[in-house]
Amino acid sequence: MTAEYKVHGAIAVITLNNPPVNGLGHSTRLAVTDGLVKANSDVAVKAIVITGAGKAFSGGADIKEFGSPKALQEPNLLSVILAVENSAKPVVAAVHSVCMGGGLELALGCHYRIAAPGCSVALPEVKLGLIPGAGGTQRLPRALGVEPALNMIVSGEPVKSELLAMIPGQKLFDKIASSAEALAAEALAYAMDVSEARPLPLVRNLPCRHPQGDAYFQFARNMVKGMAKNYPAPAKCVDAVEAATKQKFDVGMVTERDIFVNLMWSPESRALRHVFMAERAASKIHDVPADTAQRAINLVAIIGAGTMGGGIAMNFLNAGIPVKMLEMKQDALDRGLAIIAKNYESQVKKGKLKQDKYEQRMSLLSTTLSYDDLSDADMVIEAVFEELGVKEAVFKELDRVMKPGAILASNTSTLDVDKIAAFTKRPEDVVGMHFFSPANVMKLLEVVRGAKTGKDVLATVMTVAKKIRKTAVLSGVCDGFIGNRMIEQYGRQGGFLLDEGCTPAQVDKAVEKFGFAMGPFRMGDLAGNDIGWAIRKRRYQEKPDMKYSKTADLLCEKGRFGQKTGAGWYDYVAGKRDAIPNAEVEQMIATHRESLGINPRKISDEEIVQRLVFSLVNEAAHILEEGIANKASDIDIVYIFGYGFPPYRGGPMNYADEVGLFNVVQAMNRFAQNPLDDAAFWKPAPLLAKLAAEGKTFN
Ligand code: NAI
Repeated sequence: MTAEYKVHGAIAVITLNNPPVNGLGHSTRLAVTDGLVKANSDVAVKAIVITGAGKAFSGGADIKEFGSPKALQEPNLLSVILAVENSAKPVVAAVHSVCMGGGLELALGCHYRIAAPGCSVALPEVKLGLIPGAGGTQRLPRALGVEPALNMIVSGEPVKSELLAMIPGQKLFDKIASSAEALAAEALAYAMDVSEARPLPLVRNLPCRHPQGDAYFQFARNMVKGMAKNYPAPAKCVDAVEAATKQKFDVGMVTERDIFVNLMWSPESRALRHVFMAERAASKIHDVPADTAQRAINLVAIIGAGTMGGGIAMNFLNAGIPVKMLEMKQDALDRGLAIIAKNYESQVKKGKLKQDKYEQRMSLLSTTLSYDDLSDADMVIEAVFEELGVKEAVFKELDRVMKPGAILASNTSTLDVDKIAAFTKRPEDVVGMHFFSPANVMKLLEVVRGAKTGKDVLATVMTVAKKIRKTAVLSGVCDGFIGNRMIEQYGRQGGFLLDEGCTPAQVDKAVEKFGFAMGPFRMGDLAGNDIGWAIRKRRYQEKPDMKYSKTADLLCEKGRFGQKTGAGWYDYVAGKRDAIPNAEVEQMIATHRESLGINPRKISDEEIVQRLVFSLVNEAAHILEEGIANKASDIDIVYIFGYGFPPYRGGPMNYADEVGLFNVVQAMNRFAQNPLDDAAFWKPAPLLAKLAAEGKTFN
């Protein structure tokens, strides 16, 4: 049963019980309406309490039903709420821990609400490109007041119950329990208190006005427009709440429903819901069962206190996990330590971190110059120079000193994890943990599975990733793993576009208008153009037939490595990140173009975006086919969390699905006709060609 029914004296208690967060799936909804019927027909029952078992009152819709017809199957949530409102006996919602989305809408339909302190209350639908669809936009402004309600609906962010209860005139919570533990008993007592009250109060009957309505909503609309940009839902939240102030309740409910249904079909909401599901799916590995025994990780060692080592250490310190850092020399350790401290201090200065928290985190960090000090660590992450010989020396030492069962991870971004594993006598304990720079900020973690990596090691690393708040995606071993292997093709297209007539700024602008956080050339300047240069030099040896534009090499020959040298594709002013176009660079590109005998042509933004994005898609199709990525949605997650792909387009694979794979292949065939492009690359990957021919999608 996904909700329990029990009678305590004169009070019937309906307890939502659908772990993990009491999602309001069909069977739960049915159990609630059944409970209401039972309670109303039992003469011994005087009032009803609805509450949630375990860790939540209710987190809202059941994500297992997302977008399926089951979500609408009667009794749908609107019908359940109506049944609650129509109960002849008073219904008290006893909310605690988490009360979100449909859970809050259900509570708002109850006659009374008592909340435990510390309960997170939210209507987060906007984060999925939606508005609340079961009365939330109509009832919350009536219960809480128009402005705080709109703030909650537009932001989707949770607010603590005790803070909401302090809002003057609010009717959201009739009572705050003295403690979370006391909620159950106090809810029973409160239900008894109100058992004879008639008529029963309904939120729908409360007035809903804003004294300066027109001005306020105009103001709200302007604010939202500036911030929401390519996301349609926030502005629709304003419309729906305005309707609550101007329309009768039932009419406002129809307005809410119309907006909700329209948003449900929008590509933005489809994409955001895809990302939501994809992120949850990413942590699941098909051949690693959920109940795989995991290793305990209570102490982490990090080798190398450079750019990555320091950032990686901060992730663990933030999560309260002690870290030991090892370097070859004391001054390198001191430097690494100072950078970590400086990072935290700037957070303290900005008010983002309390001084005591900072001190607490630093106290978890210790340093050493000796491998023998690492024998008590449960996991070690290597972040030394990117050279196989250096990695070999380090991993041989680790094999010597680490305790049996310790996990040996490498942060390598290009090297073969299987070769690294072979430096040890325990390849099953070796795994890649590819963090992205800055490692304390970027959400993405590619977990690289070697041929011999143990399943329990993978399961443990996925859990550790969650603890340090990373979104982990599994990748197989290949050059560049998922993300960088794809970005190489994207970068190559960027080069061809310059050769054919674009400026870096034109390409970047087109891609940024599409929604990327940054175009390819600004990204190159941020990451350092020398990194790509080094990779290309290697490629020229390995793949002499592969076609490359030479412009990026010319740029690097001028020492224009990007932001770190103050000059790259653009110029930079010290301390600022604005990219200022540089006439010399544009001339350099033009001269090179002339030397190739190319007549520049005007290239449309649409062509720029398609060539760049479809180059990602085609490489991704190879990656999927080779089993480097387990599922298409994993690739979407890599690009959204690691490469600034716009979430409202759902990642490259979801975007290709939306465009239609047939159309993608058609465009690629066109690009292959361009003599200045690389026809061999544009041959659709077999998987892509097959799906397109069958009218299927990646996801
Ligand atoms: P870095 O040069 O900033 O830091 C490397 C540190 O390792 C230095 O402090 C050096 O003293 C230390 N080190 C070198 N050999 C050592 C040894 N034998 N024992 C102990 N310490 C040693 O380099 P960075 O950028 O932090 O890169 C480290 C690793 O992370 C590389 O494998 C790199 O490919 C990878 N990586 C780098 C990213 C980046 O954006 N910088 C992104 C993702 C991965």
